[in-house]
This record gives sequence, C-alpha cells and structure tokens, in this order.
Amino acid sequence: MLTELVDFLGSLHPLIVHLPIGIVLLTLAIDVFIRNKNNSVHRVITMGWFFTFFSGLLASFFGWLLGDNGYYFESQISIHRWSGIAFVSLSFIVWILRYINFRFSKPFNRSINLITMLLLMITGHFGGEMTHGQNYLLENLPYVEKEISVVKLSESERSKADSLMVYEDLIHPVLEEKCMACHNQNQAYGGLNMTAFESMIKGGNSGAGIQKGNPYKSLIYKRVSFPQDHLKFMPPAGVPLSYDQVATLEWWIDNGAKKQMPVTLARKDPKIQRLLELQYGLDLREKTYLETLILASPTLDQLKSIEEKKYIWRFLNPEQSFLDLKFTKNQIKTKDLLNIQQIKKNVIWLNLVDCMLNDGHLSFLSDFPNLTRLKIQKNPSVTSKGIKALKNLENLSELNLYGTSVNNTALMTLGQIQSLKKLFLWNTRITPKAIADFRAQHPEIEVVSGL
Ligand code: HEC
Repeated sequence: MLTELVDFLGSLHPLIVHLPIGIVLLTLAIDVFIRNKNNSVHRVITMGWFFTFFSGLLASFFGWLLGDNGYYFESQISIHRWSGIAFVSLSFIVWILRYINFRFSKPFNRSINLITMLLLMITGHFGGEMTHGQNYLLENLPYVEKEISVVKLSESERSKADSLMVYEDLIHPVLEEKCMACHNQNQAYGGLNMTAFESMIKGGNSGAGIQKGNPYKSLIYKRVSFPQDHLKFMPPAGVPLSYDQVATLEWWIDNGAKKQMPVTLARKDPKIQRLLELQYGLDLREKTYLETLILASPTLDQLKSIEEKKYIWRFLNPEQSFLDLKFTKNQIKTKDLLNIQQIKKNVIWLNLVDCMLNDGHLSFLSDFPNLTRLKIQKNPSVTSKGIKALKNLENLSELNLYGTSVNNTALMTLGQIQSLKKLFLWNTRITPKAIADFRAQHPEIEVVSGL
C-alpha cells in the first residue's frame, strides 16, 4: 500500500518539474526584458523566485521518491539530483535576498541569471536522458542513426564461425553492456552479480538466474522478455535487448546454458541458424571437404606431360588446382596410371570408364588423397579383390561400379569408406538381398542399383 503510494508520488515528478522550469523562465524574461522596473515589477520578480523555489522543492521531493524506487544508472542520477538541488537552493537564496531588499549590482544579477540557466539545462538534460533514454535529444534528427542493439562481430570472428562460443561471443558481451553496470561485485541489485558465470547462474535474492534447460524458469530470461513497461523489465534504464539477443539467450538456456556451447550447434535448429546468419553475419553452412581444401596448382610441365598421354582434363575451380581427369583411349596400361601419380593430389574427379581396367591397375589408385569422385564402370575385369585397394581413399564420396564384376564381398570394403555418399552397383554380381542389407546398414549412402 505504502510502496504503491510512494511509487505514485514518484511518478508525478516528471509532471511537476515543468512548473519550476516555466516559472523561472518567465521570471528571468521579465527581469531581462523590462528595463526600467518600478516596484511592482520588482515584486513580481521576487514572487517569481519564490514560486520557482516552492515548485522546485515539491518536484525535488517527488524526484527523491522516484530515484529511490525507480532504477537508474548512478552516473546519470547523481548529476541530475545534485544540480537539481543546487537549482532549488539558488532560487531560495535569491528569493530571500530579494525579500529583504538586498540591492543586486548589475553584473551580480547577470551572473545569477546565467548560473540559473546553466543549472536548469544540466538538470533538464540528464532528467530527459533518464526518462527518454540516452540520445533522446538527437535521435530523431534525419542524419542520426537510430541506436539499435546489435552484437558486433569483427570480420575475422565472423569468418571463423566454427570456433565461436555462444556464451562467450554472443551472450556475455550483451549482458556486460546492458546489465553489469547494476549487477556486479560491488553493486549487485537484487543480490544478483552477473560478472562471474557461476554467480549469474545462481541468481539473486529471488532464485536461479538461469535454470539450465528451462528459459521460462530463468529469471534473467524472464526479466528481459517482459513487456517493456512492466515494472520488472530489465534493463530498467538504457537500450533494451533486441529480438535476436533475447532469442539467442532463450536458445542457449534451452540447450543447457553451457559455458562452452559452440555456435555451430545452431545447425540443428534452422530457425536459430537463420537468425545467426542474418543478424550476426555468420556463415554456418556445413563446409564440404573441397570447400576447405587449399592446393597448389599443378605445373604447366606436369599438365603437358599428362595431356599428351591419352588424357583430357579440365579445372573444377577458379584457382585452377582441382582437376577433372578423363582417360580417353579404350585400353589403359600400367604406365598410364604411373604417369598421373605426379599430380595425384590435384585429381578430384577421375574417369576411367570402359578402358579394360583390371584389379592390378586399381592398386595404383590406392593413394589419391583428394579424389572425391571415381568412375570405373564398364570394366568387366574389375572384381571385389581389386576394390580393396580403394578402401583408403578418405574423401571418396561417389563411386561408379556399374558393369564391373564385383560381388557381395566388395560391400565389406565399400562399407569401410566413411566418406562415401553415392554408389552405383547396377549390373554387377552383387545380389539384391546383399544390397538391401547394405542399405539398411548404411542409410547415409545412396545406392543406385537399377531396380
Ligand atoms: C540500472 C540498473 C539495472 C540494470 C542496467 C539492470 N538491472 Fe536488473 N535489477 C536492478 C534492480 C534495482 C533490481 C532489484 C529490484 C527488482 O527486482 O526489480 C534488479 C533485479 C534483477 C533481477 C532479479 C534478481 C533477484 O533474484 O531478485 C534480475 C534477474 C535482473 N535484475 C536481471 C537483469 C538483466 C538480465 C539485466 C540486463 C539485461 C539487468 N538486470 C540490468 C537494476 C538493474
């Protein structure tokens, strides 16, 4: 009951302050613009100072109640408070001096008027900042950018999204900017100190700051997601959290509020992933092996020696380091395979279709570190035995064995190639049942088997 009354009186302060402002301005105007003052003018001016003092006193009283119960940044409120008090004191002194008919010299009078104006401006400005927010004065000018709250990630941070942590890089900077001025070791309003991770989780007088896994029971989340005019909305002063900051906080708490939660976890949640991509400029797509691969181009001499020897080739990337290599004759020899060993790092796609390839030849393909696509279809001499040579191709994702003589045992080898995504087994000796079993065991591999 009492606190509500105090709150009510406190809220009258912004209304009442306009009285002393209006009265003192009028009083100063009369003093300055009426040159030859008779006694009645002097009396009006004295009265003006009295009403300035009286209404100022009233405003200060309500202001004091508001300052004690509303929550403001100490730096703003103390300047406002003390310049307000100085203003009221000054108007009291001026009124008393005029009342006892103290004669003001002209320079003295001018200085008094000047100081009064200064105090009025200082008090008014900081009061305005507290009620309307910092920047309130200039923010609506056409060339001033509106202050919206965003986490700024540097270019280099954005490019290494894989190593960013949700708490450290996205949440802590926001809480530091918006909460820690009032929630730190020295000044922990509500008993809440947010500067240390553990004490933030633990919370203040009313319970857990963060309840891991449950944002809606976490006071910190609840307080920032209240409507802005709610009595308990945080921060009570300054720029509120933006939508994406609140959403990131919610997602983080939902996922266990771990200190070391990688930003890449957002890949599991398309909504958050999009939000992080749009709001923070993060690139969270999963990179393929090739996107991360940096290679030196093959030399001109190397290319020349290959081209002459029955191959055609083209580059797959603008940096001219990834090769798509195709054998063009109808009978391959061991020396043709030896010939391409010198550029084996650069061979990304390899096409050895219908060229009488056999198991012995395949052993020369066992060490092509960046080979991702291998086409050896229509080579009936290739069997399960030769396929064994391929099991160490760490980055092979597509393999075409259509029209070779591989049988069920080849599936043992193929199952070991972790990177495999697509497999063509049509027209081989592998049985439909073995294929069905393989599919069940390796759902990540797309098997094309004709029927
Ligand atoms: C201008 C000072 C100020 C700022 C800035 C501020 N708070 Fe507060 N906060 C307070 C005061 C005063 C209290 C105690 C009164 C109350 O509970 O409303 C409080 C209480 C709280 C409580 C309740 C603690 C408890 O257990 O009772 C939480 C949670 C909280 N603040 C979170 C935040 C968060 C999150 C931010 C930043 C987004 C923030 N605060 C920014 C002043 C501030």
